[in-house]
Amino acid sequence: MSSKSYSEAHEKEVAEYLKKITHSYYNINSLPEYFDIYRISKNDPDDFWNTIAENNFEWRQKWDNVMSWDKENVDIKWFENAKLNITENCIDRHLEKLGHQNAIIWEPNDPEEETQYISYNDLHKRVNKMANVLKNHGIQKGDRVCVYLPMIPELTITVLACARIGAIHSVVFAGFSASALASRINDAECKMLVTADGGFRGGKTIDLKSIADEALKETPSIENVLVAKRTQSDINFEINRDVWLHEVLGQASEECSAEVMDAEDPLFILYTSGSTGKPKGMVHTSAGYMVYTAYTFKNIFQYRPKDVYWCTADIGWITGHSYIVYGPLLNGATTLMFEGVPSYPDFGRFWEIVEKHKVNQFYTAPTAIRALAKQSIDFVNKYDLSSLKVLGTVGEPINEEAWNWYNDNIGKKQCPIVDTWWQTETGGIMISPIPFVTPTKPTYATLPFPGIQACLMDEEGNELEGYPANGRLCIKHPWPSIARTVYGDHERYKNTYFSTYKDKYFTGDGALKDEVGYYRITGRVDDVVIVSGHNLGTAPIEDAINEHPAVAESAIVGFPHEVKGNALAGFIILKEEGETRKHDNVRKEINQLISSKIGPIAKLDRIHFVSGLPKTRSGKIMRRILRKVSSQEFDQLGDTSTLLDPEIVDEVIDKVKSALK
Ligand code: WT7
Repeated sequence: MSSKSYSEAHEKEVAEYLKKITHSYYNINSLPEYFDIYRISKNDPDDFWNTIAENNFEWRQKWDNVMSWDKENVDIKWFENAKLNITENCIDRHLEKLGHQNAIIWEPNDPEEETQYISYNDLHKRVNKMANVLKNHGIQKGDRVCVYLPMIPELTITVLACARIGAIHSVVFAGFSASALASRINDAECKMLVTADGGFRGGKTIDLKSIADEALKETPSIENVLVAKRTQSDINFEINRDVWLHEVLGQASEECSAEVMDAEDPLFILYTSGSTGKPKGMVHTSAGYMVYTAYTFKNIFQYRPKDVYWCTADIGWITGHSYIVYGPLLNGATTLMFEGVPSYPDFGRFWEIVEKHKVNQFYTAPTAIRALAKQSIDFVNKYDLSSLKVLGTVGEPINEEAWNWYNDNIGKKQCPIVDTWWQTETGGIMISPIPFVTPTKPTYATLPFPGIQACLMDEEGNELEGYPANGRLCIKHPWPSIARTVYGDHERYKNTYFSTYKDKYFTGDGALKDEVGYYRITGRVDDVVIVSGHNLGTAPIEDAINEHPAVAESAIVGFPHEVKGNALAGFIILKEEGETRKHDNVRKEINQLISSKIGPIAKLDRIHFVSGLPKTRSGKIMRRILRKVSSQEFDQLGDTSTLLDPEIVDEVIDKVKSALK
C-alpha cells in the first residue's frame, strides 16, 4: 500500500472510531433536535442518560440502576455499582487509533521556549510512570493527594495518575497563599503534596516551593512532597520528606494497570468559597462526572476530529478540570494547555497562540476579554484567526460591550459565542447555547443543556413558571456530575444547596428569563463575589482582616469594575480612630494580610474606615446597603429605617463619595 492510501485508510478508521466514542446518540444538530432531545431528557432522565452512558464509554461493569436520589439525606447516586476507570476512557481506549495524535499541546510562558507535543501514546506512558511514583510512595486508592503546581504538563499528568490508581486529587490553584494551601491540605488530610520549585507567570517567577514549605509547617498528614523542576530556583529541600520528581520518574515503569473504581468512588475534591470562612471541598465522583463532562464537551464545543481546542483557564479551577483535562481527553481531542498570561510578552499572546496552533475552539473568561479589549486592536489584527470556529466564555456574566468586541474582533462575526453558565458544584456546563444550533443573544447563556431542569424561584419558594421572569436559579432534578457532598461535612452540603428550596438544588445565582425563555445570569445573590472570574467568599476575607490588631470589625462587598467585573470594597471599623497617615499603613497591612491568608486575588480595591456598619436589630450586617453605596446607587438603598443605627448610612455614603473624588 502506498503511504498515501495507507494514511487515507487510517484516517477513515480514525474518523469512524471518533464517531463511535463521541456520542453516537443524542448529538444536537438543529434547534428542533435540541427541543426533542431536551424533552426526552426531561420526561425520562434515566433512559436518556442510560443511552448516553451505554454507548460512548468503556465500562468494566455496567450499572444496576441509572440514578437514585434520597431526598431526605440528599444522597445522590448515578450508575450504581458500575465499575470503570476514567483514565482508561481518557487514554487507553484511544491508543490503537489515536496513539500518535496529540493529546496535549503545551505552550510555555515564554514564547522562546519550546512547545511540547504530547501524543496519546506519550501521555499513556507519562501518566503510568507518575502513577507508579505515587504508588511507590505509599499512595493507595482513596488517599488524598494535594496538587499545587503551575500550568505545566506535570499538572495534567498528576491529576490523571491519581485517577489511574484511585487516589483522590485535590488541586489547589498555584496563586493561593501558604495558609490557604495548608487549610485545604488539612481539611482533606492529604498524604502527599505534589508541587514545583517554582512557576513562571508572565515576567514573574513564583516561588511555589517556599510557599509550600510555609504551609507544610502545619500539615501533619503530609508524608512526602514530590517536587517538579521548572524554574531551577534554589529551594529548601528536606531530605526525609522531599523528592525530586524527575529523579523518581526516571526510574518508574511505563506500565500501570488502572484501578477498578466504583461509579460513586470519589474522583477528586475541589475547594470553592462559601459563606463561612472555611472553603468547601466539593466532592466529584467517577462515572457521572465522566459521562457529563464528555457529553457536554462534545456538543457545546462541537469538536471535530483533528481540531485543536484551547481553554485558557487554570487547572486549579473546575473549568480546567472539566474542559482542559477530562472532557477533551474523553473525546479523544487535542487540548492546548498554556502556562502563561494573556499580557506576556505582550497583549497579543493569545492571538499569537491561536495562529500558531490553528486553534479551532477558544474558551476564556469575560475578565480576560475585557482586559484585551482595552488594548490596541493591532494586537489582534497582527494574527490570522481564521482557524477559529467556536468561542466560549465562562466564570461571570459577560457584559454586552465585551460580548460584541469578542464577536466582532475575534470571531469576525463568524463564530458562535457559547456563554456557558455553571459552577464548581455542577461539574459541567449547565446552561449554554449549542453552536450553530441555538441562536445567541449577547449576555444570555440561553437554554439549559439536555438533562438540566433549570427553573426560577421567587423568594417565597414559588416556582416562576411563565416568562419573562426574574428570580433565583434552581435545578429541579439531579444530573450526573452534581457534586455529591462537601468533604467531611454533608450537613453543610445539604444546608447550602438543598435547604433554601425543597428538593431543589439552589445555585446561589440570580437570573432572568426573557420572552422566549432564554436565561441571563445576573450574578450571585449570596455572600460570594466573583472577581476576575474568581469565586471569592466575603467571609474568609473578613476573617483575614479581623486578624489585624487595629481592626474591630469589617464587611466586604463587591462593586462593578471595568475589567475585573467586580472589585472588592472593605468597610472597616478600627479599634481606635487614628490619623490619616496611620490609615494608609493599615490599608497596606490589611492587603498584605489578605494576600498571605488567601492570595493576591482577594486584595481590596477600596478600604473605607467607618465608625459603624449598617446592621439589623438582630445584628446582621446589611451588606446589601454597602453594596448599593459602593456601586454609587445612592438612591436605591431601600428602607433603612429598621436599621439599628440608620445614621450610619449617611456616614458610609460620605466616606464612599469622598474616596471617589
Ligand atoms: C459562579 C460559579 C464554572 C466555572 C467557573 C466558575 C458565575 C459562571 C457564568 C456565566 C454568568 C457565571 C456564577 C456561578 N458564573 N459562569 N456564563 N454567566 N455567571 O466556577 O468558581 O464555582 O463560580 O460563577 O455566579 O455561580 P465557580
